[in-house]
Amino acid sequence: MDILDKQKIYEYSLTFLGQKHLNIHVFESIDSTNQFLKNHPSSTSLELCCAETQTNGRGRLGRSWYSPVGENIYCSLRWQYSGPIAKLSALSLVVGLAILAAFRTLEITQNIYIKWPNDLFWDGKKMAGILIESTSESLDHQSVVIGIGLNVNTQTLIEETQTKIDRPWCSLRDITNKKWDRNQLIGIICGMTHQYLERYLCDGFSTFIPEWEKYDGLYQQLVEVTLSNRQHLVGIALGVREDGLLQVMDKEGKIHLITSGEVTRCSPTPSKH
Ligand code: BTN
Repeated sequence: MDILDKQKIYEYSLTFLGQKHLNIHVFESIDSTNQFLKNHPSSTSLELCCAETQTNGRGRLGRSWYSPVGENIYCSLRWQYSGPIAKLSALSLVVGLAILAAFRTLEITQNIYIKWPNDLFWDGKKMAGILIESTSESLDHQSVVIGIGLNVNTQTLIEETQTKIDRPWCSLRDITNKKWDRNQLIGIICGMTHQYLERYLCDGFSTFIPEWEKYDGLYQQLVEVTLSNRQHLVGIALGVREDGLLQVMDKEGKIHLITSGEVTRCSPTPSKH
C-alpha cells in the first residue's frame, strides 16, 4: 500500500502552483477533511488536507462518503477569495473540469464525463464527487473549502465493496486496470485546481464553456431533477449558462434554470416487442 506523503504531494503540485504557497496537512484518520479546514485558522496560503480514511466523510445533499483506509483520495483544499459569493456560482463546475485536466496530464483519457454540477462518472458509475462549503468571513471575503472524494484503487467490481454504496460506483483502477500513486494524483489535482480557479477569477466561466461541452454527460439527455422543494421536473438538459446554471426544457418547451439539487438521467424505457 502506498502511504500519503506530504513531501511527495508538494513536489507533484509545484509545476502548477507558481509562486503560491501550499500548506499540507496529512492524517491517518480524521472525521472529515472538509471539517478540518473549516475549523483551521485562516491564512493567506492555500491549505490542503488529506487523510488515509475519514470517520465521518460527508457528501452532497446530506449523504455520507465511504472512505476505506489507504485506497482512495479524500482531500480538501481551502482557498481564500476576495469578492462577493455570487461571483462563484460556477465554481464547482470549474473544479470538476480541473480534475479532468489533471487526468489528461497522466494520459487518463477514457470516457469520463461530468454530471452537473460536478460528479465524475464513467460508464454510468460514479468515480468522484465534490463538496464545496464556503464561509463568508465578511461581505467581500470568502473562505472556500473544496472537498474531493476520488475512488482510486478500490476494486469496486469485487462484490463485497459494491454493497457498501447504494448506487453504482467505480474507481480509476477499474477503468484503467492499474493501481495509481495517490500522492501524484493529489499533487497534480491540487495544483491544477489552483490554476483553474485563478483562470476562473480572471475570465469567468464563459471561457470554460467549450471544455464543459466536451465533458457534459447530461447534454440533450432526458433528465429528472429533484428540486429543493422536493418537486420533480422532467425535461431535456440543454447545457449550462455562463453563471453555471443548468438549463432544462420541459415538455411544454419552457426552459427551467437549475441552481441546485439532484439531476439524474432517465433510463430509456425498454422497447416493446
Ligand atoms: C458528493 O456527494 O458527491 C461529494 C463527496 C465529497 C467527498 C469528499 S471526501 C473529502 C472531503 N471531505 C468530506 O467530508 N467530504 C469531501
